Parts: sequence; C-alpha cells; structure tokens
Amino acid sequence: MLSLRYMLSRGPTEIILGDGALPSIGKLEDSLVVYPHSLRQLVESGLRGNYESLEINDGEESKSFDTVLKILGRLMEGRFKRTSTLVSVGGGTVSDVAGLAASLYLRGIPYTSVPTTLLSMVDASLGGKNGVNFGGVKNVLGTFYGASRIVVDTSLLRSMPHNLANDGIGEIAKYAAIMDSELYSFLMENTMDGVLNDQKKTEYLLSKCINDKMELVSQDEFDQNGKRIILNFGHTFGHAMEAASGFSIGHGHAVIGGMLLEADFALEMGLTTKEVQKGLQELIGHLGFSVHGKDYLPGGRAELSEFVASDKKSTRHTVKLPIPQSIGIPKVCEVEISSISDYLERK
Ligand SMILES: NC(=O)c1ccc[n+]([C@@H]2O[C@H](COP(=O)([O-])OP(=O)(O)OC[C@H]3O[C@@H](n4cnc5c(N)ncnc54)[C@H](O)[C@@H]3O)[C@@H](O)[C@H]2O)c1
Repeated sequence: MLSLRYMLSRGPTEIILGDGALPSIGKLEDSLVVYPHSLRQLVESGLRGNYESLEINDGEESKSFDTVLKILGRLMEGRFKRTSTLVSVGGGTVSDVAGLAASLYLRGIPYTSVPTTLLSMVDASLGGKNGVNFGGVKNVLGTFYGASRIVVDTSLLRSMPHNLANDGIGEIAKYAAIMDSELYSFLMENTMDGVLNDQKKTEYLLSKCINDKMELVSQDEFDQNGKRIILNFGHTFGHAMEAASGFSIGHGHAVIGGMLLEADFALEMGLTTKEVQKGLQELIGHLGFSVHGKDYLPGGRAELSEFVASDKKSTRHTVKLPIPQSIGIPKVCEVEISSISDYLERK
C-alpha cells in the first residue's frame, strides 16, 4: 500500500493507493456517500460505519446542475454540518458533480473521493477541478475544490470492462508525451494488459501519473501561472470533439484524438518536430489505438471550431496549446483560433 501526500492551499491531500485499499477509508460517521446505481454492491460491501447514502446517475449526461442540486438537497434534508464529509464513489462524472456539491454546501465541507475507473484514478479525482456541462459546453461551470482524502483501490481495475479501462489510457499517454519521458519508456516496454495484471507495475503506473498531476497542481493549484495548463495537451481539440459528438465519444478516446491532431497541427505551424509526432504515434499505436487523428473526428467541422473557440483556455482570438517539444518536454504555444479552424476544415 502506498501513501502519498501533497500540500495544497486548503491543507494536505492524502492519497492511499493499493490492492484492496478501500477499507483504509475507515469507519464513516457523519458522512453522505454519493455513488452511481452500478456501484451499490461495492458501497454496501466495502464501506463501514454509520453513514447516509445517495444513489445518482452517472455518465456525461448526468454532469448537470440537476445532479448537483440533488446532492445539495440531500445534504440539507439530512442537516449535514460544516464538519460533515461528502464521500464520492465512482468515475470522473461522479467526482466532478460531488466535488462541486461539496464546495457549495455551507461554502465547503470536507470531501473524500474513491475513484473507481482508471481515468478517475489517474486524473479526474485529483487536483481539485470539478464541474458540470452547461449550454452544451463541457465543464463550463465549476470550482476548484479538491478531495482531502483519495482512496485508490486497484482491485477495482480487475473487473473493469475493456472499453472503460481503455478510456483511462488517453490521460496516461498524455502524461508520458507532454511531461514524463520515463513513463513513456515504461509504457513502450510493457503492454497495458501486462501492467494491469501485475500489481507492482500497476502501482508504479498509477503513482507516476498521480505524482505528475499533483506536482503540477501543487505549483499552480488555481491554473494561474502557466504550469498546470501543460495538463491540457490534447484537451482543446479533445473537448471540442466530445462536445461536437454530443458527448457520445469517451473522454479518454477524445484526448487521444486531440493529442494526435494538436501535434499534427503544431507540426504544420512549425511549433514542434516530426520526431515528436512520430514518438506520439508510436506510443498511441503501441497502446492499441489508431494513430490517425482523422479517425477520431466527429462530423461538423464548423461546429468543432466553435467549440474550440469556447475553450476555457481561449481569449477572443487565440488559444493556448501545450505542445511537446520533445517527448516529455512541454511548451505552451499561443495560436490563432482562425488557424485551428482552417486546419480542421482541411481534415
Ligand atoms: N475534474 C478533472 O480534473 C477531470 C479530469 C479528467 C476527466 N474528468 C471527467 O471525468 C469524466 C469521465 O470519467 P470516467 O471515464 O470515469 O467516466 P464515468 O464516471 O462516466 O464512468 C463511466 C462508466 O463506468 C461505470 N463504472 C464506474 N466504476 C466502475 C467499475 N469499477 N467497474 C465497472 N464500471 C464502472 C460507471 O457506472 C459509468 O457507467 C468526464 O466527464 C471528464 O470530463 C475530469
């Protein structure tokens, strides 16, 4: 069992990582546990104590204010106090709505997260960004409010359907390509199945991703000094692709397509090298995905450009794209939105 600790503005974030880590959450008292219907058995068999619970829908369509209001209503009904804890058990959609609810109720109550998908273990449960989709735009309403305790039970990965595990791989590849050449080499030397069937390698992979993200978050918790934006590699195009598909393509899949297209665009603009594009394609191919950015594009190029323009990292005319300069070395490039629109129309 690994124990990791990061200091953020509201205090430390403690992360427990290991096979069968769930019981280390301890006996829950004065807590509301929020989870999706599909994880009822896990909650009932894995959590102890005198807690209250609320089942919610998960998935992208449930990342709405309605779901947040449902959680807030239950907190009010149960007369939970400022010292009470909100616990989320689920994937990234659950932690995104629960984190937002925890930040709003009584201006913020303690929050614990149990991520249950690969994507939420390596990314979504970490770093304090939460949010809901609004007006068709992804994560446009939200706050910065991290879980102070995160329990990552790797045994959950064993029962994970292949497509769901696949969805976490996009973010893992992102850390490798943009900031972690050691992780890149590890991924190239192993297969994903090989890693997930080996506890030591699973813990290495997860702790590397957690550390990559939390180190940047510790340096730029509120996304203000240009460090954290590095984590956005693949996300400007990726979020636009998710939105343009009506959220029918998974986040991780969209991030893979987004990285391929952003690297190709950057190469056209002279912002990166052919070696970077080749290295990225080799990694993505090795992980079992198509290396052709076009394969990830949903229809409606004009719509895609509009979603790029509404990216949270954009100004009126430009957007900041983090682009690898070599594998593991990032640079943030400011580019004209019109040049992205031109590029997408040609694809
Ligand atoms: N806040 C952040 O920093 C951040 C970062 C990355 C992604 N995200 C968000 O995360 C969301 C995606 O999260 P996700 O991929 O975890 O999807 P998800 O939360 O929608 O879960 C996907 C499906 O997996 C099921 N599931 C959950 N745990 C399971 C398990 N152990 N075994 C079997 N099935 C299980 C769920 O019931 C659901 O049907 C997106 O909305 C994305 O925007 C947020």
